[in-house]
Amino acid sequence: MLIRRAPDLKSSEITPEHLYWNRREWIAAATAAAGALVLAPGVRPLAALAQGQQRLGMPFGLQPDDKPNSYEDITEYNNFYEFGVDKGDPAARSKGFRTAPWTVRVEGLVKAPASYHLEDFLKPHRIEDRIYRHRCVEAWSMVMPWRGISLADVIKRAEPTSQAGFVEFTTLYDPQRMPGQKSRVLDWPYVEGLRLDEALHPLAFLVTGLYGKDLPNQNGAPLRLHVPWKYGFKSIKSVVRIRLLDKQPRNTWNVAAPGEYGFYANVNPGVDHPRWSQATERRIGEFRRRKTLMFNGYAEQVGSMYAGMDLNKNY
Ligand code: MTE
Repeated sequence: MLIRRAPDLKSSEITPEHLYWNRREWIAAATAAAGALVLAPGVRPLAALAQGQQRLGMPFGLQPDDKPNSYEDITEYNNFYEFGVDKGDPAARSKGFRTAPWTVRVEGLVKAPASYHLEDFLKPHRIEDRIYRHRCVEAWSMVMPWRGISLADVIKRAEPTSQAGFVEFTTLYDPQRMPGQKSRVLDWPYVEGLRLDEALHPLAFLVTGLYGKDLPNQNGAPLRLHVPWKYGFKSIKSVVRIRLLDKQPRNTWNVAAPGEYGFYANVNPGVDHPRWSQATERRIGEFRRRKTLMFNGYAEQVGSMYAGMDLNKNY
């Protein structure tokens, strides 16, 4: 991955999230949850934290000092090579990207393959707001207030056959609409994959919105994946195809640099990238570095999926 120095982003005082999100309530709940870590005997600390989060409709897995990044941070500092390789390129160059009409095809080892208009694809599913930690392999992180649907529900609806063991996701390929695809910086279209049990995990999420509004183009409109315990490159943007397979699919960054990026890409502070440490991260909008957490803070929920695997080799 091309690494560039993060510009020191200002976090603006007046941002749309203040309409959506009462920061004092957030801090109060997070602090109460953190207090429960110490105070309540017999209460499992993560469960206590989750209670505080769930009271505000937040998913389990956030840490007490997490708060959502500003709308500006999330929409002006992006990786989306289809629109250029600099962090500001996606916001600048995706403005005219047409995302309607949009077709999503679900196919492969399923009993009910289908092509859907996006509206029909989403219709049977419950739209949820979830706040997820997002850790990029480049050692920066953010907290994203997403809107979307459960990936597991989408996959179950397609009825995978007994041979299906993996899920492949593919981004739109259209160099006219995505000018970055005219350069050979990656092998287009961008593809990603998950093991079927990972894709069926309740945290795996298909994102359609941010801060309660439609997903901005630079964040992967109209439909992108977010797998919060994995490095951000797994969270493929502008998805047009979901395909069930019996073999592990290729994934773009592994094809580009197999010695640097694996298939699993689980966040792991103990396994450094060959060119830099993964032990810490910089939260966009902050100057201090934070310790990176195993599975990006979701170890309790996802750790059992990797029991018995050597995570130093399966990175
Ligand atoms: N998906 C596509 N199609 N193209 C990309 O370049 N970049 C990935 C991922 N999904 C990328 C992609 C990387 S490296 C990261 S860190 C995240 O998108 C960034 O998501 P964000 O811009 O919403 O923070």
